[in-house]
Amino acid sequence: MRKRLAERNSEISSFYVMELLRLAKQLEAQGKDVIHMEIGEPDFPTPTTVIDAGIKHLLTGEVKYTPAAGLPELRTKIAAFYRQRYGVSVDEQRIFVTPGASGAFLLALGVSLNPKEELLMADPCYPCNSNFATLFGGITKTIAVDASSRYQLTARHIKENWTPSTKGALIASPSNPTGTLISPEELKQCIHTVNALGGCFYSDEIYHGLVYDTNATTALAFSDNVFIINSFSKYFGMTGWRIGWLIVPDEFVEATEKLAQNIYIATSTQAQYAALAAFDDNTLAELENRRAEFAARRDFLYDNLLRLRFEIPIKPEGAFYIYANCKKFTDDSYQFALDFLEAEAVAITPGKDFGTYEAHHMLRFAYTTSIAKMAIALQRLDRFINKG
Ligand SMILES: Cc1ncc(COP(=O)(O)O)c(C=O)c1O
Repeated sequence: MRKRLAERNSEISSFYVMELLRLAKQLEAQGKDVIHMEIGEPDFPTPTTVIDAGIKHLLTGEVKYTPAAGLPELRTKIAAFYRQRYGVSVDEQRIFVTPGASGAFLLALGVSLNPKEELLMADPCYPCNSNFATLFGGITKTIAVDASSRYQLTARHIKENWTPSTKGALIASPSNPTGTLISPEELKQCIHTVNALGGCFYSDEIYHGLVYDTNATTALAFSDNVFIINSFSKYFGMTGWRIGWLIVPDEFVEATEKLAQNIYIATSTQAQYAALAAFDDNTLAELENRRAEFAARRDFLYDNLLRLRFEIPIKPEGAFYIYANCKKFTDDSYQFALDFLEAEAVAITPGKDFGTYEAHHMLRFAYTTSIAKMAIALQRLDRFINKG
């Protein structure tokens, strides 16, 4: 009989952490107090200024489609944010408001990636980005990275792995799962290398607001010939609103608009009106307080994981993750995560959700929960690894 499921489905990977979540739900149903350190979203609520702006618009009843590229006033505010935060100017016509960074990726790859073309990415990396390339018939070529390059691609990696089928390279800085940043100089070299080779450079900057002790540099600082993927999800605390943005090189503006019209018509109208308040001074002041809280959590978790003898060769500078090597305790981090959850009711994400390189020795801890809860989780972890 003819198969009805499209073949590409077999190449889309699913999250191993879902199995852990299923187990976590079972434990919770039995009354266990599960501590969630697997979750990739801030535990803080959406700022009230943003919620109020969304409600105010909903109450007008005029919740109609917006232009496909987004509300003009929101695109203006995003452009102003780039001027203030990074000192770069970007033409608003190049900015597209999208359903999250996920929607931004769909557009970016939809307008640029041909079937069978390769996209270079680091291993470990955020797996959905690679699955999007597969969806368009492209091929992800992952390059094993380690602490020596801060778990980021380098210009050398790009040159060495470039073939006639390569379309471009994708960098996520800060990275999910490692929380590490690419240096401004290396970022510049990567962009120049890709541009010199005639490819596309994609920069996933979704964790940019959540950087501690230093500042992140946008790829736009080095070239206008780049795709920038960003979102209101993480720094702005708006995961469920489904809103982000994409900045494209000039030559892609028309095609991107056409694709947006066809794929989703427009991003959620109430989310766009809510996001208009995201750049207000009082909202940004609150977000900066949250950033300080995340920095304190990072320090707490980092110090304690080291104390428990996990290996973390580089202190992460951003996002809300620590990617720790657990080889002193196991050669199977997935089984470790399952057993730890079952024994101690703490959920963490196994390395194999982010790639294959050394994945069996890696665990991702998310500090999207309070220091008080993490202190309990760490006591449980101590007991688990020292049980006997
Ligand atoms: C690196 C990275 N990029 C993109 C996304 C997608 O985010 P969203 O679609 O919520 O904006 C995520 C979500 O976790 C992520 O970690």
